[in-house]
Amino acid sequence: MARTDRSWSPGDADLDWIEEIAGAPHPVLLEMEAAAGPEGIPILNRDSGRMLAVLAVGRRRAVEVGTAIGYSTLWTALGQGEAGTIVTIDPDRDRTDRARAFWRKAGVADSRIAIVNAPALDAFAAGEPELTGPFDLAFIDALKPEYPAYLDALRPRLAPGALVVADNVLWSGRTSGSRPARDGDGTAELREICRRLADDRDFATTILPIGDGLLVAALRA
Ligand SMILES: C[S@@+](CC[C@H](N)C(=O)[O-])C[C@H]1O[C@@H](n2cnc3c(N)ncnc32)[C@H](O)[C@@H]1O
Repeated sequence: MARTDRSWSPGDADLDWIEEIAGAPHPVLLEMEAAAGPEGIPILNRDSGRMLAVLAVGRRRAVEVGTAIGYSTLWTALGQGEAGTIVTIDPDRDRTDRARAFWRKAGVADSRIAIVNAPALDAFAAGEPELTGPFDLAFIDALKPEYPAYLDALRPRLAPGALVVADNVLWSGRTSGSRPARDGDGTAELREICRRLADDRDFATTILPIGDGLLVAALRA
């Protein structure tokens, strides 16, 4: 199906203007960006972070798959405000220790963010009590070949009206086929989760072409 014609696309000047209007991110987010880059720690694109914060407003209970040093977690926490809580999953304790230090520096109370240090599918299967839900927001940003399995685990844990947000669904062009994929690189599973959610009438789903592609799906109440 042809997409809507666009006679105009935003250019650098427009994107700079958006950045100016948005204002500087929280100083701790800037510190995290500075730390992640040189170490090659993959974190969310800043525009996607801003979007995640907007989506988190009013969503008290969030779950995140893939913490790293806590950048997306902090965007979520800032969007939620003081009343919000997050359970975030990552088996890499060194990274999550650093995340905790960043969150403290940003003034986010320890009680608001629980960390589960385990592979996410194991943690869900073990029925970790923190992961019982129901959750109002689920953010997926870990192993791409596991995305459909994360969705399966999260689905019964979602509150009516919950949002499922997944990063990297464009996978630098591999998902659409505009760039070549390799076997086992997660492309097939990214196609699967996008197709499944788009075809599921229980969800209203869209893919935002920001960062590496941000899928947003709302579970109809
Ligand atoms: C892309 S990074 C997460 C970035 C983070 N969401 C952010 O934007 O700041 C992916 C993370 O998934 C973690 N990870 C790897 N295997 C995992 C698994 N089986 N379950 C959960 N997380 C996993 C990695 O340790 C890594 O820190």
